[in-house]
Amino acid sequence: MLLTAEKLTKKFGDHTAVAQLDLNIKENECVALLGPNGAGKTTTLQMLAGLLTPTSGSIRFSGTKNINRRLIGYLPQYPAFFPWMSAKEYLQFAGRLSEVPKKELQGKIEEMLSFAGLEKAKNKRIGGFSGGMKQRLGLAQAMIHEPKLLILDEPVSALDPSGRRDVLEMMNELKKKMAILFSTHVLHDAEQVCDEIVMLKGGKMKWCGNLIDLRKRQGEDHVLLETKEEIGNWLRTENYVAECSFSSPRAVEFTLRNPESRNRLLSDCIDKGLTITHFSEKGRTLEDAYLELMEQ
Ligand SMILES: Nc1ncnc2c1ncn2[C@@H]1O[C@H](COP(=O)(O)OP(=O)(O)OP(=O)(O)O)[C@@H](O)[C@H]1O
Ligand SMILES: [Mg+2]
Repeated sequence: MLLTAEKLTKKFGDHTAVAQLDLNIKENECVALLGPNGAGKTTTLQMLAGLLTPTSGSIRFSGTKNINRRLIGYLPQYPAFFPWMSAKEYLQFAGRLSEVPKKELQGKIEEMLSFAGLEKAKNKRIGGFSGGMKQRLGLAQAMIHEPKLLILDEPVSALDPSGRRDVLEMMNELKKKMAILFSTHVLHDAEQVCDEIVMLKGGKMKWCGNLIDLRKRQGEDHVLLETKEEIGNWLRTENYVAECSFSSPRAVEFTLRNPESRNRLLSDCIDKGLTITHFSEKGRTLEDAYLELMEQ
């Protein structure tokens, strides 16, 4: 295990921002920390990056108690740049701070500028950069020393759709080489890159698992039936129907007690002489499954 956090807790005065959080990150795994505003995402990431001392709980990095900052890259939620610096100067500065060996630094800077699509802008002042350029530069800064774990706090939240796509693509490249832990409040962003999702609300873990587990929760038990003739009231009393609501005498939407009852339903319709004009599964979206978990 690359990183293990146990019962991680952070209190600010009498307010508990993060409570008893357990978290595991394997080598080369991409984990999304998903939660609404104030869930405790930034607080968690800052503790894991060694920037904030936990009130209680433990963090082990590669099996040791010391958080080795050289093995971690960090992109804050609101990165502060010196507007007068050029992209190249900024990466030089970041590389020295992360102790990249002097003879490797120039090569690394060129590699990062190319990776971030900033070669043409390398000598321009950061003050004139767009939000997307700044975020790509921030990501380049966080990984210039080839960390084993990249911690990114809301790396795409402030970006427009094309900036979002650029940064998500960079993350998809990076996850081949290193583990990534990133926070977001948008499930769709998590879906694009991560293997595992940790849902946080009110400082507590609400759910954790992978996308496949989450998709399973979408369910396939909700169906839509339309017929040529009027359906009638018999459906309401069938024991395989959990809930039903008629939008017209010929159209009904309902939940089955289990998905296997679909064939039973269809044969009952045929027995009753009904002509089926539409039958479909109305799966919930992944977003519905997420909201349901968060509201529990
Ligand atoms: N330095 C601090 N002092 C006091 N309270 C704090 C401090 N930092 C965070 N908090 C509180 O802790 C809770 C969690 O904050 P945190 O910034 O970790 O949430 P977040 O999930 O990152 O939210 P956002 O999506 O808005 O970035 C909030 O209620 C916040 O007000
Ligand atoms: Mg935050």
